[in-house]
Amino acid sequence: MLGRTTPSLLRLAGIFVSCLIFVVVGCDDDEIVTPSPDQEFARIVEQFELSALPGIPYPADNPFLAERVSLGRLLFFDPILGGESDPGLKFDAGLDPYRYRANDMACATCHHPDLGFADGRRLGAGVSGAQFDDMDLGPSRVVPGLSMVTEDPIGIVPRNTPTILNTACNGKDSIDAVFDGTQFMDGRAQGLEEQAILPITSRDEMAGDAYGPDFTAEDAQDAVTQRIRNIDEYVSRFQQAFAGEIDGPNDITIEHIGKAIAAYERELVTPGSPYDQFVEGNYDVFTHQEKDGFELFFGKGLCGDCHRGPMLSDFKFVVQGVADDYESIVPGFEGKNGEGGDWGRFHADEVALADQKFAFRTLTIRNVEATGPYFHSGSAGTLLETVEFYNRGGRGPQDLSDAELAAEGAVRHASIRPLGLTSTEIAAIVAFMKTTTAPVQAGPLGVDLATTPQRVPSGLIPPGVPTPEGPGPFLMREEDR
Ligand code: HEC
Ligand code: HEC
Repeated sequence: MLGRTTPSLLRLAGIFVSCLIFVVVGCDDDEIVTPSPDQEFARIVEQFELSALPGIPYPADNPFLAERVSLGRLLFFDPILGGESDPGLKFDAGLDPYRYRANDMACATCHHPDLGFADGRRLGAGVSGAQFDDMDLGPSRVVPGLSMVTEDPIGIVPRNTPTILNTACNGKDSIDAVFDGTQFMDGRAQGLEEQAILPITSRDEMAGDAYGPDFTAEDAQDAVTQRIRNIDEYVSRFQQAFAGEIDGPNDITIEHIGKAIAAYERELVTPGSPYDQFVEGNYDVFTHQEKDGFELFFGKGLCGDCHRGPMLSDFKFVVQGVADDYESIVPGFEGKNGEGGDWGRFHADEVALADQKFAFRTLTIRNVEATGPYFHSGSAGTLLETVEFYNRGGRGPQDLSDAELAAEGAVRHASIRPLGLTSTEIAAIVAFMKTTTAPVQAGPLGVDLATTPQRVPSGLIPPGVPTPEGPGPFLMREEDR
């Protein structure tokens, strides 16, 4: 609604101001008043509340501390967080814990710096994904594989892996960046601290079958906490990062682990893109095509009805009707619902949100060039395909039909309707979206946030780092075997 009333109000105000100017300076009566391109850009920036990437909002109980960021970076890349990465468990299975890492999982296995802090895959690949080469990352990972513990099939994650770049600036049902912004496409976590301790509890993502058949989230969190407590280097780093709170190993809790990981993720912001410069008024940074794309994105394309504000997302949940198409990715895969599809927001609370089937959070456009495939199911391989989806109003043979949506009580958002964009216009919109690309900011104390640490305190090998030659300095202590 706002999207359509505001422009006419603004236009009226504009005409009023122009009339005043005529009266004051006595302009020719029949002169046609068209705003200059720059005035039009400024109007769009104002109407859609666009801005450069805002400053990072910090929670009061997890302020910026360089030691915490460095610690979080090590945890993020350390396979010690993965259930089946447990050195003791591998040792018991007769495997060299230092060399065998086919079932190892770190956060960075799926959110890897080389892949835009996503994984370049349609659907996430968790435990067992590196079956053929234990260094496999992203699209080379193959799931399902087998659990090292039970030999049961494992590892298919029923959603596309989003980037964690700029998630520090996620909003909560509004465009405003808040420290406890919505995480996940169905919004089931608020804030990076809460989110960070969940992947380790998911069987296919990280836990595997390491914690028994009916393990609870607490079982997984307790086991991971205990492993961290057993590693001296982590203990001393936790003491530094949480001075006054942590004196010895047993003071380390899962909440501290979550806070440290969140502290690292929060710094993964990408300010200074051409887009950021443009919305600050430096209009020369865009090519003609990018300028056209900017106007189309917020005009004829209707994209700005949802993609607006500092993150180019309103952080609301809307029904678009993107098909899951799991059958073409993993034949026979049951999907998030167990019925081959994904009901989105409904999964966050199946009672309270019973009427929100197929609703997903508006995702950011920032850095989107580096983070494909797109949509919750990865069903759009390229940015071009995303715009084609919108251009056909989400109503192609491969999309969810209005009838299929209605059968589950869902109604497609009114702005998802045929747009009549030409191929030139579509290309311009794609070019515009790529203007949001920028590198991760330089880290505190010279820490390079966006590179993989070559070693982590567990002695396990971080994702993407080649297995070193020789016997290796495996760090597992005698008493942990
Ligand atoms: C097996 C792959 C995999 C692993 C391992 C993994 N993630 Fe994710 N991550 C995903 C997928 C898939 C989603 C989207 C899930 C959803 O929205 O329901 C996601 C979502 C997220 C989000 C939310 C981003 C947003 O804007 O909504 C954050 C933050 C995140 N992961 C951080 C982490 C951290 C921290 C770890 C390690 C503790 C981790 N991930 C481990 C695949 C993975
Ligand atoms: C009605 C609100 C709405 C409109 C209008 C809209 N989007 Fe989206 N956009 C979303 C939602 C919601 C998602 C996530 C959907 C999903 O994953 O199923 C999304 C996802 C995307 C993605 C994928 C991001 C990723 O990381 O996977 C791109 C790219 C995108 N939109 C571009 C556009 C463009 C270009 C337009 C205009 C032509 C547009 N959107 C119009 C709500 C909207």
